[in-house]
Amino acid sequence: MCGIVGALLKSGSVTEGLIDGLSVLEYRGYDSAGVAIVHDGGVSVRKKRGRLANLEEALGDGAFLGALAGIGHTRWATHGEPSDANAHPHTGRSGKLAVVHNGIIENYIELKRELLNEGESFSSETDTEVLTRYIDRLWVEEGGDEAALVRAIRGVLPRVTGYYALAVLAQTPTGPVLLAIRKGPPLVVGVTEDGGYLSSDQLGVLPYTRNVVFLEDSDIALIGPGRLDVVDASGQPVTREARAIEWDPSDSGKGDYPHHMLKEIHEQPDVIARTAFDRIDLGAGDVRFEGGAFDDDFCRSIERIQILACGTALHAGQIASYLIEGLAGIPVDFDFASEFRYRNPRLVHGTVALAITQSGETADTLAATRLARELGARTAAICNVAGSTQVRESEATILTHAGPEIGVASTKAFTAQVVAATLLAIRLARGRGVLHEHKAREILEELRMIRPKVESLLTDAAIARCREVAQQHAGKRGFLFLGRGVNFPVALEGALKLKEIAYVHAEGYAAGEMKHGPIALIDTDMAILVINAEGKVAEKTRANIEQVKARGGVTISVGSDAASHAIAASSIPVPATSEWLSPILNSIPLQLVAYHIAEIHGCDIDKPRNLAKSVTVE
Ligand code: M6R
Repeated sequence: MCGIVGALLKSGSVTEGLIDGLSVLEYRGYDSAGVAIVHDGGVSVRKKRGRLANLEEALGDGAFLGALAGIGHTRWATHGEPSDANAHPHTGRSGKLAVVHNGIIENYIELKRELLNEGESFSSETDTEVLTRYIDRLWVEEGGDEAALVRAIRGVLPRVTGYYALAVLAQTPTGPVLLAIRKGPPLVVGVTEDGGYLSSDQLGVLPYTRNVVFLEDSDIALIGPGRLDVVDASGQPVTREARAIEWDPSDSGKGDYPHHMLKEIHEQPDVIARTAFDRIDLGAGDVRFEGGAFDDDFCRSIERIQILACGTALHAGQIASYLIEGLAGIPVDFDFASEFRYRNPRLVHGTVALAITQSGETADTLAATRLARELGARTAAICNVAGSTQVRESEATILTHAGPEIGVASTKAFTAQVVAATLLAIRLARGRGVLHEHKAREILEELRMIRPKVESLLTDAAIARCREVAQQHAGKRGFLFLGRGVNFPVALEGALKLKEIAYVHAEGYAAGEMKHGPIALIDTDMAILVINAEGKVAEKTRANIEQVKARGGVTISVGSDAASHAIAASSIPVPATSEWLSPILNSIPLQLVAYHIAEIHGCDIDKPRNLAKSVTVE
């Protein structure tokens, strides 16, 4: 939530790069955008409510061109409504210091009161302005140079409760200074001979260098051309190693697609192949993870798995729970990370906490995993971002190779998580000796052959079918998604996609639970999508379709169960595969139906209202 960028260059002009960086980070929040540059012996700020385009228009006079140092911000509002005044950057009274912030200063009211008593005034309702004014006052008192700024920040931070990734820009007597400070939300730095760059994620730094540094909690870093000086919480200089990033900066573009979401849906055949194929050992009927992770000893030592995740990632986690219990026989619990962390959880000895997260920076997932560790669990992660906090803090990680996911609605990251969970379930089962080699090989062979099946769901004809269903039902009052077993979480995910991008009320439900309440909702103005794959619960789910029909409900069957298609009012056929793998295929038409309903309603598909991609605050 909120994206921040900053740069200090040897020569040239910083503003264009800041705007490019913000356009890449806009998925993190889009309530307002702003930049500050060093200018005429001080700092100058332009900021605008709404999308980045508004800021670009405001910068059209060219007055911000030619500065060597600057910071920028794209906002997901926490304190204060989206407005020009509440937009970042915020400045101090000195007129020589500006700050952008991602996070929350929880005790800002107390700090604000103190500063008001000392005669300070404020022009916004934000927590960030309070912090900015506080730093600025101390900086001026300390002498107003670079060393004074570090001292001022080190003086202020112990008084602050909360979470922050901060970029501080100041004009000192010896020139501009750029600082990056982190506690909680991510901050990535890249340094070349030409400049020092910071960003909320690696995408903002990649255009300049593939060697990036992920700052650690409590780091304070001075950044410039050829310069990265970091001190840790105790003020001691520390070295933070750069790591080479594989992502290509062009991966974050839309290509020829109208939306990132559609592009990302279409990337799924590649993503699934990248995440699975090199790890499959068909000869042995087994899975090999990098560095020998999840070896037999580790697999045998697990008594219980606690899955922790949020949103779509939790739906992948629920699928994982069916797979792990079903194939490896390990008891699995799953929970919203935000609930786990506050419910006084009890973990048995031998628990592995498995976090599932695309970004690796979701605040609740990180906190829940840390709590599980404190309670004695070992930690593992399924994550899409190498170098993210979640990966760095986990003992074992399975990386999903989905590449950057920019659309706020998760699609390719979800299917990659499901693939990774499938691989993990098979490895656990094989490592514990509970799944016969030929059985494992059967599933792995199916997975090895899944690519053309995924592609068949993305042909023009297949997409046209999803669009047709969308057109037929876009006007319905509500949607119910039903599924059983491993396809129950697929129903939850289908409903979430529709809610978040089309703003339509949708419920995901276990098909067998329908009779215990939601059946009362059913009438001709309700569309009921029933996800049903060939397999052991297909017949039971078919019975649910009949029950819905008997009450006048409009049914759409999605999946490989031909008998369901014969009885439903309409259908979206999906190729047959192993029941264990059916969630991978069944999710794709649901993504497309949601996409097209959102398109029909004229919604902003890649940037749905009120949402942000990376939820780095509670
Ligand atoms: O980065 P994470 O996977 O930890 O994010 C978790 C959720 O915020 C995320 O899956 C969210 O529900 C999706 N954007 C919804 O499509």
